[in-house]
Amino acid sequence: MSVLMACLASLTAIALFSQSPAFADIEQGAAIFKTNCASCHAGGRNLVKAEKNLKLASLEKYGMNSVEAIIAQVTNGKNAMPAFRGRLKPAQIESVAEYVLAQAQKDWKK
Ligand code: HEC
Repeated sequence: MSVLMACLASLTAIALFSQSPAFADIEQGAAIFKTNCASCHAGGRNLVKAEKNLKLASLEKYGMNSVEAIIAQVTNGKNAMPAFRGRLKPAQIESVAEYVLAQAQKDWKK
């Protein structure tokens, strides 16, 4: 019986642990956004090209409402937006893309 309990306890621990990377991603993404994106996109706006902001309606309108699309644009850049390939690691780009989408889904309200 106690072996079973121990098994259950470790399974629970594994389940809890395996959830933490997702949280870490978003938090890491927030930090990356602050340093690399906020100069042009503070609060989800676009200070260079106002209509291409990071609000959900705009992301949807321009087909940018997926982690994949945001990863592609951040990696390669577009027009006045610089490419981050070489400046950020792929994992960091993924984190910041997840952060942007998560923020857009709650309308950039904390
Ligand atoms: C120098 C200013 C600048 C910086 C820094 C910058 N962007 Fe942009 N961003 C732009 C501009 C300009 C556009 C519009 C590009 C276009 O389509 O012409 C844009 C567009 C976008 C879009 C698409 C928005 C839409 O509604 O279609 C996303 C998503 C985005 N940026 C994310 C990011 C992320 C994430 C970072 C940081 C890693 C970042 N940007 C850094 C200027 C910037």
